[in-house]
Parts: sequence; C-alpha cells; structure tokens
Amino acid sequence: MTTLRLLSDESGIREAAKILKNGGIVAIPTETVYGLAASAYNEQAISKVFKAKGRPQDNPLIVHIAELDDIKDIVLSFPKQARLLAERFWPGPLTLVLKRTDKVASSVSAGLNTIAVRMPENEVARRVIKASGLPLAAPSANLSGSPSPTSAEHVLSDLDGRIDAVIMSSASNVGVESTVVSLAENPPRLLRPGAVTPEGLREILPDLVVDKAVLSELDENEEAASPGMKYKHYSPKTETVLVEAESGRFCEFVNKQESCAAICFSEEQALINKPCLSYGNKEDSETQARLIFDLLRKSDRFLVDKVYIHAPKKSGVGLAVYNRLIRAAGFKVIKL
Ligand code: TXA
Ligand code: MG
Repeated sequence: MTTLRLLSDESGIREAAKILKNGGIVAIPTETVYGLAASAYNEQAISKVFKAKGRPQDNPLIVHIAELDDIKDIVLSFPKQARLLAERFWPGPLTLVLKRTDKVASSVSAGLNTIAVRMPENEVARRVIKASGLPLAAPSANLSGSPSPTSAEHVLSDLDGRIDAVIMSSASNVGVESTVVSLAENPPRLLRPGAVTPEGLREILPDLVVDKAVLSELDENEEAASPGMKYKHYSPKTETVLVEAESGRFCEFVNKQESCAAICFSEEQALINKPCLSYGNKEDSETQARLIFDLLRKSDRFLVDKVYIHAPKKSGVGLAVYNRLIRAAGFKVIKL
C-alpha cells in the first residue's frame, strides 16, 4: 500500500478523519510520541494496527479522547481519584487504566476487563479525534520492539507502505510515552513512568505503589501488570549497555573499550575520544526525555559493536528515561 503524507492543516486533518471513519489506520503526532491511530470501536481497524506494528496480541492499546465527556462510552465508572487526576493532568501525558465497557473493541484491551485512556494535549491530535468523532486507539507508531517515534520521519522509516497515512507534523516535545497509572486496583499502581512524575501523582494518590517492572526485569514466570513492560523494547540493532557511574569513571571506561560509541551527557562529550552523542545536561531530565529515542535510532549509524549509555538519574522525569533505557539495553547494566 502507498502511505499518504498528510499536512497538519485543515485539509490533512479532514482526510485523516475520513480514513479513520472508514476503518483505516493513520499515524498522528502527540506531545509524547507519534501514535498509530484507529477507531476504538472497529475490531478490523484494530487488527490492522497490531499487524502493521508486528505487535504481540496480548499487549493492549491506549484509547485517546478529546473531551472528558467522551469517556462515558469507554469506562464503567470514573472514580473521584480519576476525576482529580484528569482535572490536574489532562489534557497531557497521563494514561489512566479503568474498568471498561463493552462498546470498545475487545482487542483494544487484549481481552482484559480494563482499558487505558488518555486525553492528549497536542492540538493536531485533538483536532483529528474531534473531526473523526471517534475515540482513537493508538499505540506508539513504531515497529514493535524498536524505539518509539518522536517525528514523522521516524514513523516513515518503520511503517512506510504498512499504514494508510501519516500526518507530517513537528517533533514530539515530551519525547517519552505517557505515564500509565492503574486505578482499577487498590492501591493505585504506577505501571509506566512518564512526564507526569510519581512525586506529582502522589499529591493526589498518596498510596500510589510503583510496579516492580518499572525498574527491574520480571522473572520468566511472573505475570506483568502492564503487558507492554515485559517485552524487550526501544532497541536499536546495535547492542546497547547502560552504565551507572560518576562522570570521570564513565569517560575513562568508554575510552578503554574497543569498537564502541557512547551516549553521554553534554559536559562529558569533550572528554570522550570515541564517537559519541549527547542527550543533554546530566541534571536536565526533560531534554534527555525529548532526545533519547532519536539518539537510540541514530546509534546504528556508528557501525560499532556496542553503544555505552551513561545512565540518567532516576528521579522526576529521569525515572521514565531510565525505564526506557534499561529495556533498550535488554537489562544489561554495568555499575562502576
Ligand atoms: O504516550 C503514549 O501513551 C503513546 C501515545 C501515542 O499516546 N502511546 C503509547 O502506546 O505509548 P503503547 O501501546 O506503545 O503503550 C501502551 C502501554 C503498554 O505498556 C500497555 O501494556 C499498557 O499501556 N496498557 C494498555 N492497556 C492496558 C491495560 N488495560 N492494563 C494495563 N496496561 C495497559
Ligand atoms: Mg509502544
């Protein structure tokens, strides 16, 4: 199939909405990463999304809405805590897992009795949802396993010829996917960290627990609370290794290795004598989040055996960056 390139103007949005209403699949920008959208009511359209991405059938999707009112058709109840979170963080990079209705296609939630919902802030995404008149199920618009796409070019490099259209808009400014919190259990559980931090969530959810899979690998026989967290993910083709160390030791270590490159902090770049890319200042987790997926994609251009990544701090948005990087590294972490 030919993948249409649509502009993010009125005519492009109208065309995207038409394709979605007819059961097609369209990549759209959001503030976190680009999403591959389909009607959440259309079982066939959802199966195209799984197929285009090569996504395992047991990994559920997030439903995107533009107005709070749209949630009535999707969830059975909207408890007080959900309302408070929505008032504070929507529209924005927060996804809530709640008990689902029967109206949404069952494959959206991969057979679970819960559903993940978020209201994106990106204006183009909101206009596409409104123009289609549909809740849109949208996973990240990458091939399953590869780094999430933060630009229309990333989407095309993975999915050109596999999807109906892509809206050619600007790069995502958050850069990592939304925070996922389950309110379908008690106490509420953080399933995936993102730009809405645990510190921010605890102002409304003081008893929030952080799922074990956020920071460590699950054992083979452990069940994942969030199916997406059990898969190897975000990986370039080149082997990546996460290194936890202070700056001097990290640079010294990298300089001694054979056939390697590095992803480091900006202040370290001048001290490393291997090919390296910087993902921002050590303290600047927001910049690291915005750049990391693009740099993981660029890692393959180094043509080296290994890429060593200097591990970010784990507080605030840094927790989300660390969570993606341990998966990109297949949980290989060196502590110096
Ligand atoms: O920022 C984002 O959330 C982006 C943009 C496009 O909105 N979307 C995104 O979707 O990251 P995806 O499919 O790549 O990640 C969805 C995550 C997975 O980890 C999945 O397991 C989890 O949400 N999830 C979805 N439904 C769930 C449910 N009912 N229970 C638990 N986890 C769920
Ligand atoms: Mg994804």
